[in-house]
Amino acid sequence: MLSILFEPSSIKGVQVKNRFVRSATLEGMATADGRPTQSLKELYFRLAEAEVGLIVTSAALVDGDAYKKRRYVEGRAYDLAMDEDRYVEDWKELIDGVHARGAKIAMQIVHTGRQENPKIRGSSPIAPSAVPVTNKEVVPRAMTVPEIEEMVERFAQSCRRVMEAGFDAVQLHGGHGYLISNFISPYTNVRTDKYGGSTENRARFITEIATRGRDLVGEDYPLMIKMNCDDFIEGGLVKEEAVGVAEIITDAGIDCIEVTGGTVSDSQLRIAVPGINKEEKEAYFQPYAQALKRQGSVPVILVGGLRTPSVIEKMLEDGVCDFVSLSRPLIREPELVRRWKQGSLEKAECISCNKCGLYMFDRPLRCYAEEPLEDA
Ligand SMILES: Cc1cc2nc3c(=O)[nH]c(=O)nc-3n(C[C@H](O)[C@H](O)[C@H](O)COP(=O)(O)O)c2cc1C
Repeated sequence: MLSILFEPSSIKGVQVKNRFVRSATLEGMATADGRPTQSLKELYFRLAEAEVGLIVTSAALVDGDAYKKRRYVEGRAYDLAMDEDRYVEDWKELIDGVHARGAKIAMQIVHTGRQENPKIRGSSPIAPSAVPVTNKEVVPRAMTVPEIEEMVERFAQSCRRVMEAGFDAVQLHGGHGYLISNFISPYTNVRTDKYGGSTENRARFITEIATRGRDLVGEDYPLMIKMNCDDFIEGGLVKEEAVGVAEIITDAGIDCIEVTGGTVSDSQLRIAVPGINKEEKEAYFQPYAQALKRQGSVPVILVGGLRTPSVIEKMLEDGVCDFVSLSRPLIREPELVRRWKQGSLEKAECISCNKCGLYMFDRPLRCYAEEPLEDA
């Protein structure tokens, strides 16, 4: 039972000891200027000791200047940053410690695009096109071509820093309505130049990052992406087109795709679906992962509502995906993977109440399930 879950597999030559990935999850355990803290180190060591095969950090900013100028507030959650060379040296002890505990670690990098809070920069957020953000009454500013080129360089330089810091891989955040997903979505990208229109043009932002990133990190370094496979917005990205995007970007050098969907601001189906209380509700991105796996050649990571060991095992045995990724269950139970490995196979305790997500920009990450909302 469960043997496939604990079989090793690899991502572009990086051996992962089992099939469990800790999905990128904003911990709010960075300093105000984006460096890792002691609590972040302790969390990652705990996950590594508890048999998580690959840890993906929370999203680190590729353009963090405006964020870092925010007034420091004790107890508030800040984002990681990887937009300057000075961050490279911060990670050695943490990464060495994770490796010593048998796990691998990748860093996720992001630009928040049209979903950036206008208060942060004091101006409209940037996006491929000036499509209003439905529930925020914000109209982003369309990027110029030189700005897009500069942003490609920012992402690529951040990939280089992630490699130089010692991470085993880098993961582009290409989901959830942030900048990269703004480019691939026909809802948020209505450009008529080479970055808009056809699937190929909307994927160009990623292919340029992959190509320039590859120049900087070399042939063997894994470039991963977490990518929307459906925006769940009328007129947005859908599965069939996401398969096309995946083909284009893997040809351009992307080595692994984590399948996600939904956006923070506009879509009906949220990224982290609440109330996963029966097996039929689990693995809610299964059809999307399956479609990518069928067409593609790179390892696929399935995230979203995975709670029961037998369900997870089936995903792997049926070839839906190569790895499974967990976020909320590991907030509730950082020792979950070890518990399962030791044969205690009850499903994850997480009840998907999403209170962890409610507070994610205000305070460090933990499970608030038992606490009344107003007091949490
Ligand atoms: C508190 C919280 C923070 C998150 N932060 C990130 C993030 O930084 N990057 C990301 O790609 N996804 C983020 N997610 C989404 C998760 O990685 C995951 O895709 C989603 O929660 C579904 O998986 P689950 O059912 O295992 O929780 C976050 C989710 C939660 C609940």
